[in-house]
Amino acid sequence: MGMTVLDIPRPASLDVKVVWQALAEAHRYLAELKGLCEALPNRAILLDTLSIQEAKDSSEIENIITTHDELYAYDKSGPSSPAAKEVQNWLAALRVGSGEVAQSGLIRLSTILRVQQEVEQNKAGFRRLPGTVLKNQASGAVVYEPPQDPAVIEKLMTDLVAFIHAEDELDPLLRMAVVHHQFESIHPFYDGNGRTGRILNLLVLQREGLLELPVLYLSRYITSTKPDYYRLLQTPRETRSWPEWCAYLLKGVALTARSEIRLIKQLRELMQATKQRLRGELPKLYGQELLNNLFRHPYTKIEFVERDLGVSRITAAKHLDALAQHGFVEKQKIGRTNFYINRPLFTLLTSISLNA
Ligand SMILES: Nc1ncnc2c1ncn2[C@@H]1O[C@H](COP(=O)(O)OP(=O)(O)OP(=O)(O)O)[C@@H](O)[C@H]1O
Ligand SMILES: [Mg+2]
Repeated sequence: MGMTVLDIPRPASLDVKVVWQALAEAHRYLAELKGLCEALPNRAILLDTLSIQEAKDSSEIENIITTHDELYAYDKSGPSSPAAKEVQNWLAALRVGSGEVAQSGLIRLSTILRVQQEVEQNKAGFRRLPGTVLKNQASGAVVYEPPQDPAVIEKLMTDLVAFIHAEDELDPLLRMAVVHHQFESIHPFYDGNGRTGRILNLLVLQREGLLELPVLYLSRYITSTKPDYYRLLQTPRETRSWPEWCAYLLKGVALTARSEIRLIKQLRELMQATKQRLRGELPKLYGQELLNNLFRHPYTKIEFVERDLGVSRITAAKHLDALAQHGFVEKQKIGRTNFYINRPLFTLLTSISLNA
């Protein structure tokens, strides 16, 4: 018998020690992360740079892409690998979703549909044909059969949207955990349910005001604990018990927020140090806009500087070459384009780890 109604835990069933301990920890780090983000002078830098890593982790393309060059040096007009394209689709999906939430304060059914459409680059919409089952990767055994009837899928999704906006007493992080679980259980799409569900987490956090920017990137945690993730998704279904699932996801929130706090602090120090050096060594060149440019684009190029600083192509090229000569960036030709790589930033971004 498949799922026909949403399964929402009773609040009392979540009022247990493992849950509130995990909640307290998650809220503490998330609040610190939020404060830190708000204090950053240029927040676009954070969003632009961090989201690329998340897109990569969420798309699980680690083993397809051999270098990060492709990701950071991505150029719409040039040739690109399917993996790099997938990362770009994920980023576009997050932008679309996050933009709608910022604008309307709502996560509509149409928002979720648009996010998945961007992720998958097709307009298939909700599943209409039966046959989708979730299998154990190793054994091939069917572990779960999501609803098959299109009318049921649509009804469940409508109810889920209502639950997202419900004005009840549920803690927003618990809401995110339940929403993720139920979304993955409805499994409304033919494909991209995992990626869409992970973006939905970000939208819920943003809507609840727990973060202003969608920067709590849980994919690293989820993929590095995949057996637990799959096992615990099953638990509420099989035992009707929610605390373990909630505690699992909350732990991810705390670990991820903590690691991002560390990263942002290091990023701030690096920017500060670069600024001092730039002022000392290239005082004529120094300007906040240029500094921002180097940190917003780990791989910058003449066009970016031209655009961001409003200077001529010749001036932009001169600036970048001077920066390269002084070792602020590494000049590297990829395809037909010269990129100027902010190596310390790149190293920082690609070395994020969940552990201390
Ligand atoms: N037993 C299960 N119960 C509920 N949901 C499951 C189960 N097994 C897998 N899932 C969910 O299904 C998702 C995979 O679905 P789908 O292939 O449509 O998404 P994807 O974005 O293409 O893949 P992925 O999440 O692996 O990147 C998983 O991320 C997980 O959230
Ligand atoms: Mg898939």
